[in-house]
Parts: sequence; C-alpha cells; structure tokens
Amino acid sequence: MRSHYCGGINETHIDQEVTLCGWVHRRRDHGGVIFLDLRDRDGIAQVVFDPDTPEPFEKADRVRSEYVIQIRGRVRRRPEGTENPNMPTGQVEVLGKDLELLNAAATPPFPLDEYSDVGEDVRLRYRFLDLRRPEMLERMRFRSRVTSYIRNFLDGQEFMDVETPVLTRATPEGARDYLVPSRTHPGSFFALPQSPQLFKQLLMVSGVDRYYQIAKCFRDEDLRADRQPEFTQVDVEASFVDEEGIMAPMETMIRELFRDLLKVELPAFPRIAYAEAMRRYGSDKPDLRIPLELVDVADLVASVDFKVFSGPANNPKGRVAALRVPNGGELTRKQIDDYTKFVGIYGAKGLAYIKVNDVSQGIEGLQSPIIKFLGDEATKAIIDRVEAQDGDLIFFGADKTNVVNEALGALRVKLGHDLDRIEGDWAPCWVVDFPMFEEDDAGKLHALHHPFTAPVSAEELDTKPAEALSRAYDMVLNGTELGGGSIRIHDEKTQQTVFRSLGIEEEEAREKFGFLLDALKYGCPPHGGLAFGLDRLVMLMTGAGSIRDVIPFPKTQSATCLMTDAPGEVDEKQLRELNIRLRKVQKDEQGKKEG
Ligand code: AMO
Ligand code: AMP
Repeated sequence: MRSHYCGGINETHIDQEVTLCGWVHRRRDHGGVIFLDLRDRDGIAQVVFDPDTPEPFEKADRVRSEYVIQIRGRVRRRPEGTENPNMPTGQVEVLGKDLELLNAAATPPFPLDEYSDVGEDVRLRYRFLDLRRPEMLERMRFRSRVTSYIRNFLDGQEFMDVETPVLTRATPEGARDYLVPSRTHPGSFFALPQSPQLFKQLLMVSGVDRYYQIAKCFRDEDLRADRQPEFTQVDVEASFVDEEGIMAPMETMIRELFRDLLKVELPAFPRIAYAEAMRRYGSDKPDLRIPLELVDVADLVASVDFKVFSGPANNPKGRVAALRVPNGGELTRKQIDDYTKFVGIYGAKGLAYIKVNDVSQGIEGLQSPIIKFLGDEATKAIIDRVEAQDGDLIFFGADKTNVVNEALGALRVKLGHDLDRIEGDWAPCWVVDFPMFEEDDAGKLHALHHPFTAPVSAEELDTKPAEALSRAYDMVLNGTELGGGSIRIHDEKTQQTVFRSLGIEEEEAREKFGFLLDALKYGCPPHGGLAFGLDRLVMLMTGAGSIRDVIPFPKTQSATCLMTDAPGEVDEKQLRELNIRLRKVQKDEQGKKEG
C-alpha cells in the first residue's frame, strides 16, 4: 500500500511520486492550506493539501488526530524559510494529490505528540496507543537491535539456540512459582520456569556443549522498578569451561554491544570479592560511580558506654560502620531527618551523625548528638580512621550486619544521586567469591545463588558449609545486577551434600530433582553459565526509568495487566474441568492481603 515510510523521505525523492500510509499526527489549517503531519514507524512527513485540488482537500479537512490514511503525492523542497532542521524529513514536504481514509479514530485518551504528563495507569490501560509514541517505539526498536546483536554474537561463538519448556516443574531460583493446573492430572500442577537453569544443565549432559536462549522467566515475587513477574533472560551455558570460559566471552559481548549500539567504550570490569563489596559498599551490586564508602569502626566503639554502638560492635553478627560524606556538612537538619526516615525503610533504628566543622580544633570542631555518649577518645579515633576533612558529615549505622549493609548501602546510593556525586556514565564490575549460603535468623542455610552452584572446595562444603565460598559471579552495571551465573556442580555426591546443607533430605531431593541427580550419574561434563536480565540491560542502555518502559506489555507493581485485566476470573465449567474448587475469599479479605 505504500512506496516509502514517512520517516524515510528526503531530498533524494524530490519530484518523485510517493504513496505514504500512517496516522495523522497533527492537522493544521494555514490560511486555506492544510498541513497534515503523517506519522508511521519511521517518523513524520509533512503533507500539504491546497484548495486547487478540491476533493483531497476536503478529505484532508475532515481528518482528525490518529485517523489512519493513505496519501499519494509529489515530494518537493519546502519553501525557503519553512525548513525544519529538527526533523529528518524537514527539508521536504509532499504535495498531496490523493487521500484515502483507511480508518477513523476516536479521540485518544492522552495526546501522543509529545510526552504528556499522563499517569502510568492510563498509559498501561491503553498500551497500544502508548507504544505509538515515538519514544516508546524507539525503545522497542532498540530492544530488537539488542537481541539481534546478542544472537549474532552468540551464534558467531557457536552457541546453539535451544528452546526449553515453559510448562515444567518448580525451578528453585528463590521466588514463588506461578502454577498452572493440569486438566489431565487432577490435583497436579505445572510450574512456569523461574529460569531454564535445570534444562540448560541437562543440555550440557546431552552434549550440546554451548547453549543459549532468549527465554521468558516467571517469578512471583515483590516487584520493584527493575523487577517484573514475567521477564526475559539471555541465558547461556557451556561445557568444559571454568570461570574464565564464561566471564571473558560475556564481558566481550557486553563491551561490544555498548560499542556497537551506543558508541560507548566501557571501562575495565574490576573484580570485587563479595565480602569486599559488602564491606565497602554495603551491597553485592555496588554502584561504582559513587565515590562514597563504608568504613568499619566497631573496634573503636566496642567499649564505649553508648549501647547503640557497643552492642552491635560486640555482636559477631553485628556491624558498626561510618559513611563519610565530603561536604555533607551543608545538609540541613530536615534533610538529615529525611535520611533517618529513609534508612528506617531498611530496618535501621536511627542514623547517628557527626558534622565536621574544623578538624584542627579536635572535638571542639565537631558537632553531633552522640559525641557525649562516645567519649573523646573513640570520637577522635573515628575521625582519624575515616580521614575526615572540614565540611564533612559522617553518618553511622549500628545494627545487625545485614541491616547496616542494606541501610547504609542504600543511603550511599541515595546520597550519590541527591548530592550529584555520580562520577562517569558507566561503571561495570564483576562481583565474585560469593558464599555458598546465607544463614537466616533461625540458623537455616539458603543458597545465595542457587543450589546447583559449585563450591570452591568440596571439603569446606562438608566441614563448614556456612563459610564455604561458591564459584558464582555476577555482572553489575551502575548498581544494577545485569546478570549472574556460576560454575555448576557436576557430580551427584556434591549435589547431595549441597541439598543436605539446605535441609533437603535425600527423599525430597529425589522427588524434586531426581532427573538432575540421574543426569549427573551418566557422564555430566564440567560446565557453567550465566544469565543476563535482558529487560534490565535495555533499561540501562536506553536510560529508561523503569523496566516497564522497555517491556511492550508489562505488569503493574501488583502484577496485573491493566489492559487485558489479567489475571481474571474463570468460569465454573473451566474450574470443574480442572478439578478445582475455590476457597471463598471474601473481597475485603483479598483487599487486606493486597494492601
Ligand atoms: P538470576 O536469578 O540471578 O540467575 O537471574 C539472572 C538475571 O535475571 C535478571 N532478573 C530479573 N529481571 C527482571 N525481573 C525479575 N524479576 C528478575 N529476576 C532476575 C537479573 C539477573 O541478574 N539460572 C540463573 C542464572 C545462571 O546461573 O546461569 C538465574 O536465573 O538481571
Ligand atoms: P538515641 O540514643 O536513640 O536518641 O540515639 C542517638 C543518636 O543515635 C540519634 O542520632 C539516632 O538517630 C542514632 N541512632 C540510634 N540508633 C542507631 C543505630 N542503630 N544506628 C545508627 N544510629 C543510631
């Protein structure tokens, strides 16, 4: 129906006859001449209708925003002085000779011409219109370029694209499963995969050697700006590799992707041990663009009277850390109160601070509600340790280690943004040397990555599992975990040891992962892999504020689709076929659960 895309016409088409199709972006009436901005996937072209050609002119007069039309006309140079250098088609226009109305359109619920301040709910309800906006179309196009680049790269490295099932059994990645009832097996359920983890490992047993898949994953977990219940992984696995065999090509892939698509040369990817990342940044996904660091001071306050500090300082599971903010002395009381509330979200019970007015004056040069509790000696030692300068503000966290890490880690990032202390555009890194497990308050171990991750030392795993390190690695960019992976366990005995450490007894392991344990017995090669979060990658590359802006049809924060109204109720007949009877959930009880 068309000869060119609207966005594609330029001076090389002058005097040519073209046929364009698209949506009326804008219609302007200029003293008897009608200008239509016609929009399609590639851009906007200006089409002019003048009254000399009465029939198309009248049709053009009747069209409204978002009508779908086809026009035929001749390309000509825009009269001098009317060019638009901001538009790729801005040197030319089309003199319209014919207009066919293909479809009328109701007035859109929000203007599509430029980004209007419409709420996200409305955008999501009318997503098909929201996606018409050039900004959104551009992100979809960019995402398509990213996947195509990644496919080419991995194909070139002889990775094989293999599909794995979506109707499967639970794959433990730490979230809740989405379940699908089986009609043919009453009372039984499929689980949607949280990742293709087990299948890709089985493919290594099968001899595929190098696998990849751009795979949908499903996790029923608390949502945030960088988490969706349904998301996409670039999932990779290879046999006969060690850490280098995965990390090196994956780093190259990301580096070349940025070079090719963004013209960005990423800096080196430093490798940071998990323990060091937690110690210096309070996070295992540190944003290295922010030049603020946590400093341990527990040893300096272990014997002060101030219980808030000495308590955690003497608790093996506690931490007392300082965060020095250069020139933070400018923060007002109100700002400090707001930051105190902010760390409260992470469970911190307060946010002690010292203002450094003049270091040369010793204690006299400091200002703080806690010095009187800490005493001069401890205070001086802290000032020395953090190398305080005039004008600094020093924040403190004292609590269980994970509370201090989460609170000060998040505060560090927030201060970096609020005070405009972000250095550089891109700061990637690898985080390595993760522990195998983390211990909950009840002393139970949980896999930090997933239970198929190989330990650094099998002996350590056996004798002191809580301290054992794993062969896992995460790629982090600007404080976002882009991807994670590990070298896997490839022998049954080690796999059973890990299950045991996690409190999964042999019978349960058989029942849940019998197929994996079997596969490990039949000649499983050493192997490892990694998965990137594609949505997060595209979010960072496009500078989108949320993962939802790079997913065409995302879910809301409460995991619903406002456009299709999913999840929805199903009729009684369907439920009966599935052998499901619903417990009566009172509407208000449901409301409470969601609230
Ligand atoms: P992991 O659970 O770390 O590892 O996931 C890999 C990457 O997927 C992305 N991601 C998400 N993105 C959006 N929404 C979510 N809810 C979400 N959850 C995870 C992150 C993360 O780094 N099977 C292992 C990989 C492996 O070991 O090879 C796995 O799934 O960017
Ligand atoms: P309080 O003795 O509770 O009034 O606290 C004195 C100061 O210590 C206040 O500035 C509190 O914000 C701060 N504070 C209290 N608990 C903690 C904590 N767990 N970590 C860091 N600072 C704290």
